[in-house]
This record gives sequence, C-alpha cells and structure tokens, in this order.
Amino acid sequence: MSDKDSQWWRDAVIYQVYPRSYADANGDGVGDIAGIRARLGHLRDLGVDAIWMSPWYPSPMADAGYDVADFRDIDPVFGSLAEAEALIEEAHAAGIRMIVDIVPNHISSEHPWFKAALKSKEAKERDYFWFRPGRGENGDEMPTDWRGEFGGTTWTRTPDGSWYLHLFTPEQPDLNWDHPDVRAEFESILRFWFDRGVDGIRIDSAALLLKDPELPEVLEDTPHPFHDLDGVHEVYRAWRRVSDSYGGDRALIGEVWMPDIERFANYLRPDELHAAFNFDLLGCAWDPELMRESVDRTLLAHKAIGAPATWVLSNHDVTRHVTRYGRENTTFSFENNLDGTPVDLELGTRRARAAALLSLSLPGAAYIYQGEELGLWENENIPPEQFQDPMWGRRGHSRDGCRVPLPWTGDEAPFGFTTATPWLPQPAEWKDRTAQAQTGDPNSMLELYRSAIKLRHASLGPEFSWLDLGSSVLAFCRGHDFACVLNMSGAPIALPPHRTVLLASGPLDGDRLPPDTAVWMRLS
Ligand code: GLC
Repeated sequence: MSDKDSQWWRDAVIYQVYPRSYADANGDGVGDIAGIRARLGHLRDLGVDAIWMSPWYPSPMADAGYDVADFRDIDPVFGSLAEAEALIEEAHAAGIRMIVDIVPNHISSEHPWFKAALKSKEAKERDYFWFRPGRGENGDEMPTDWRGEFGGTTWTRTPDGSWYLHLFTPEQPDLNWDHPDVRAEFESILRFWFDRGVDGIRIDSAALLLKDPELPEVLEDTPHPFHDLDGVHEVYRAWRRVSDSYGGDRALIGEVWMPDIERFANYLRPDELHAAFNFDLLGCAWDPELMRESVDRTLLAHKAIGAPATWVLSNHDVTRHVTRYGRENTTFSFENNLDGTPVDLELGTRRARAAALLSLSLPGAAYIYQGEELGLWENENIPPEQFQDPMWGRRGHSRDGCRVPLPWTGDEAPFGFTTATPWLPQPAEWKDRTAQAQTGDPNSMLELYRSAIKLRHASLGPEFSWLDLGSSVLAFCRGHDFACVLNMSGAPIALPPHRTVLLASGPLDGDRLPPDTAVWMRLS
C-alpha cells in the first residue's frame, strides 16, 4: 500500500469480527469464513480500515477459541486455511487490512506440546509449562493460592501427582515464557501470518505472559507474581523486530487491561507494541467529568511516548454499551453483568449514538465490535443452560449476551445469520436492528456509523483541543474548525456559533442540542 498508508494503525477504524457470530454460510448455526466472505460488502460499505479477527484456529472451544490447539491452521467449524488466505486477499482488494488474534499466554490442553508434556515427565515440552509439585505432606495442596482470571483456582493436578498452572480454565495451560523454545515458536507463528499478508496482530492477555518463578502469593504492596512483570517487555521487543522486518507497516496491538496508565504506556515504547487497547473509557460511567478525565488521562499518557490512543466501547468480553448506558449504573464490571437491574434501551441507544460520534472523533484509532454499528444490546435473556462461556460456571457471569449472532435480514430469528438454529438465541426485537432494515434509513445506527466513518476520514484535523461549553458538555476541536459537542447535561444547550452541522446523533431542537446527543460541526 502507498506511503500515506504507513502507520495506518494510528488513526484506523478497526472492526472486530467474532467469527462464530458474524455470518454462517454452511448452515450449522455457527458463523464461518465463507459467511464473512459473503458479507464482506457490509464492512466495505461501513468504511472500516481493518478487520480484527477473533481466534479462528483449531480449538476444542473451551473458551470460544481462546484455547488454541494449532496456530497455523483454521478450525473446521470456521473453514480452511485456504479460505482464510482467500479472505485476506479479498479484504485487501476491498481496501481492508487484516489483523489476527494471537494468544501467547496459554494454549489448549489439546495442543501437541501439552499432550507430550502430560505423557512423560522427561519430555522436553514439560518445561514449556508451569508444572510444580504440590504443597503439604502429600503434595495435594496447590502450589499457590492464586485466583484465576475467571475466578476459581489456577492449578490442576495431573495423574502423576504434579500440578500445572492455568490462569484461565484448566483447558488453557499457561506457557513458560522463560523458555527459549516458547519464544522462538511464537516468533515463527508471527512470521507464518505475516507471510500470509496479515497487517497486524492482536495480542491476547498481553501483560500476563511472565511469572515470578518463585511463585510468591499475591499480596498487597509486593510485586505481583504474574501481572505486568518487567520481563514481558523483552518479549515484545523481539516481536517488534519480527514485525519491523516486514517493512514497518505490520502492527502489534496489545490487549492490556491495566489501571495504571503509566505502566500501560510502557508497552507502547518505540521499540515495543504499536498500539494497545485502552479500556479506561469503556469502564467509565456516563458522566461528563469522569469521561473528560479519562480522555485527558489517555491522551496525556500516549503523547508522552508518541503512541496513538485507542478508543473502545465494546468487545466480546464486556456488556454491550447500549445496555450499559441504559442502566442506572453505567460503568462496566463483570459483577454488574446480568445483575437484573432494569435497562432503558431507548436511553442506552441515544447515548450509544452520541458515544459513537465521540469515539470516532477523538484522536487515535477507533475499534468497533461487530453489531455495535447495528445498535445491538446485550441479550440478557439467554437461558442459562445455553450459556457456553466458561466464566459462567466459575464467576457466575456470562459473556455470551454480547456474543449473540448478528441479525442481517428478515423479520424473524435467525435473521439471515444462518439457515439452522443459531448457536445462541437472538432477541425477536432485533427485527428492527437488522442490517437490511437499517440500510437507507437516515435515522438508523448503521447509517450514523457509515456517515461518521466517511466524514471522519475527510474532516478530522490532527490537533486536539477542548472547547469550554460548561462542565456538563464534552466539546473539542480537531483542527481549526471541526468540533464534536456532546451534551451530557439534563437539558438542551445552545450550539456554539457554526457554519454547518455535519452530523448529529439525534434530532436537534432548532439550534439547540438535546441531552445525550452529540454533533459534529464546522465552527464559524
Ligand atoms: C482475553 C480474551 C478473552 C479470553 C481471555 C483468555 O481476555 O479477550 O475472551 O477469554 O483472554 O484467553
């Protein structure tokens, strides 16, 4: 691609495809690559710059594919490697880059390495994992009391009496990143996908890889034994050397959940990752002061190291933001997922529309989770016996409500997603939220996203500065005359003097901006 496209990750619009829920072409109720290829036009028309593909590798699906048994192939439920290659080619032909998801912290217990490690204590693969004797007289107590990322314990005992570490489910044994073979293997996996033309890598659980080999307990005021250990940066420096060897336009994008924004920024030093997901705004309440602080905090931390900020409202792990913003408590935490509190979907939708204009005009890259452009909400009515998320059994929360298959066409489920029964049920009310129903309707979420993405590319200047329209209004300029104004007060406000309103998230009241509404405008 041309020179102007270099460093594309700095301001790209990146669309997350969750393959099991995008579109099903082979009629088994689960999305697949053929379905994505058939509906690539949706992404071209939306105007996104890149697709981030959640894992599509062979997997026993203990954690919806985040338990990878082979990083160099495709699970038959999704298709074949040849189809993946064809999709990469077709996406490129449509001007869309491809990002694949690599999960380096753990692999599937069905991966040949782990099988070999279980078979014999002498196997060299044994050292690729964290096998340890237990505590107590008979070794029947776990080596540590660490709590897992999904809740529950983090060690499982094998028939030979030793224990192995898994920060997630027992089907996801953690790799030992102190071992050079593990490092070499993942560098080779990066090359495998870069050689197939992918433009970027999303790095799952990027801050967890290294563990303190002394296995200390997690205590306040002592260094954490597995979160954000300094040694992890050496891994990403090596990965950066690999990506740089492809000419400098292949991006590494980390999933880094970290409250300390300075520690977070360490991952973005010039010789490490190109970008990282910033979840600060995602976790933030719908509150003007808190959101302004979050934006400031984010921009400042990124500016200090010259890295691009990223803006994320939803993904496959969190409650969809139409639902979050329609509740009394608008923050995100797993604890308030499925807590039964009432949701005002109309309010949530109005705010989600305004949030789209906000996140698509802040400086940096914007991520869209599939279905957010359709205004989908969390399906909170899935019968628990249909839950597939391993978090459900452990923490009593389920991420399935945000993973429901997309509605494409028609008036009834499965809304063109499949000809079979979809792997998770879709709400009947989504008949108004299909891509078909929204296309051409200027008031729809889909047309709002399409217009916003088109305008974003044409209108945003490089500079960012706040406009002071009072403490309950988030307003800023990009360049000399472009402004985004979001009214978070309870009453309409007067718009600042302007030449034109480019786009509004909801109807204006003459020259007044109603509550929970945003506009893009050219100032006079
Ligand atoms: C990341 C993924 C999540 C997965 C976990 C374990 O947080 O986004 O879906 O369950 O890592 O791989």
